[in-house]
Amino acid sequence: MIDEVLAEVSATADAAMAEIADCMDVASLDAVVARHRSKKGGLSAIKSRLGGLAEVDDRKRAGAAVNEAMGRLDAAVEQRREVLADAAISARIASETMDLTEWRRPTHRGHLHLVTQAWERLEDVFVGLGFTVAEGPEVETDWHNFEALNMSEGHPARGEFDTLFVDHVPPGGTVGSTVLRTHTSPVQIRTMLESAPPIYVIAPGRVFRRDTPDATHMPVFHQIEGLVIDRGISMADLAGTIEAFTKAFFGAGFSSRLRPSYFPFTEPSAEFDIRRPDGSWLELGGCGMVHPEVLRAGGIDPEEWSGFAFGFGIDRMAVMRHSVADIRDMYSNDIRFIEQF
Ligand code: PHE
Repeated sequence: MIDEVLAEVSATADAAMAEIADCMDVASLDAVVARHRSKKGGLSAIKSRLGGLAEVDDRKRAGAAVNEAMGRLDAAVEQRREVLADAAISARIASETMDLTEWRRPTHRGHLHLVTQAWERLEDVFVGLGFTVAEGPEVETDWHNFEALNMSEGHPARGEFDTLFVDHVPPGGTVGSTVLRTHTSPVQIRTMLESAPPIYVIAPGRVFRRDTPDATHMPVFHQIEGLVIDRGISMADLAGTIEAFTKAFFGAGFSSRLRPSYFPFTEPSAEFDIRRPDGSWLELGGCGMVHPEVLRAGGIDPEEWSGFAFGFGIDRMAVMRHSVADIRDMYSNDIRFIEQF
């Protein structure tokens, strides 16, 4: 009798162990546990029948076997519970993992500002024509910006530049002797003072005037200056250079012309216009033969050397190239505008 009971205990325990091992989630494990703890099934049922054994020793042995089997099952259940909990966490992590590569927007590359694009193309064209690139400071002395360019104090031409004066006294200077440069022409003077002819430079850069912004003006804008100093340079060289530049930059369908004008720092002076393929003319900038006084201010002997200079707006070129109606749009930082180019 006792042997049968012991065999039943171990068979029931083995079956329960197998069921526990088969449980794939906590809910089914709980169900197995509930079934085996209930008075009607499994080891608990056997336990409740032990009182029927006649021998005290048999009852003890059978009771010990049941208790031992129950302890084993409890341990197995706990172990299985841990394994299932780990698996549940892993599964949850796997299911909630975000594949960030799928969130990535289609590759979208930005581009340089329209003015920077024009600036760089202008440099490319002039470097191709044999020029090198020169630079000067944006905060400039009155002397470089006006004086040395043949515009002494009180010269009426100064009135055309709505100058922004800077509260900065340079070494050896006086109050009011520094300005935000109103044009790139002071780089002519700096280049002449720093290097000996022959000189073939362009100087692109930012310039400042006290202008109210409108469709064609900004108080901060960009110019590109050109300066050539060599022996025997004439107005024909100037006209030829402008024409070569026009064709290289705008295309074979464009041509250029010079119109008499006046600048204090060139003599003779001219405006240069370009002719579009549709026959219309557009004023681009100023130019002329470098004034002898300017050569002298730059430490160059006008008897030995002569040269020409030109200057025009870069923003205007950018606007023209892309048919932008209002120059202010280029500085509004409106992504809808920027993305069009
Ligand atoms: N600096 C002149 C301007 O800003 C342009 C210019 C440059 C004219 C060089 C002649 C020679 O209007």
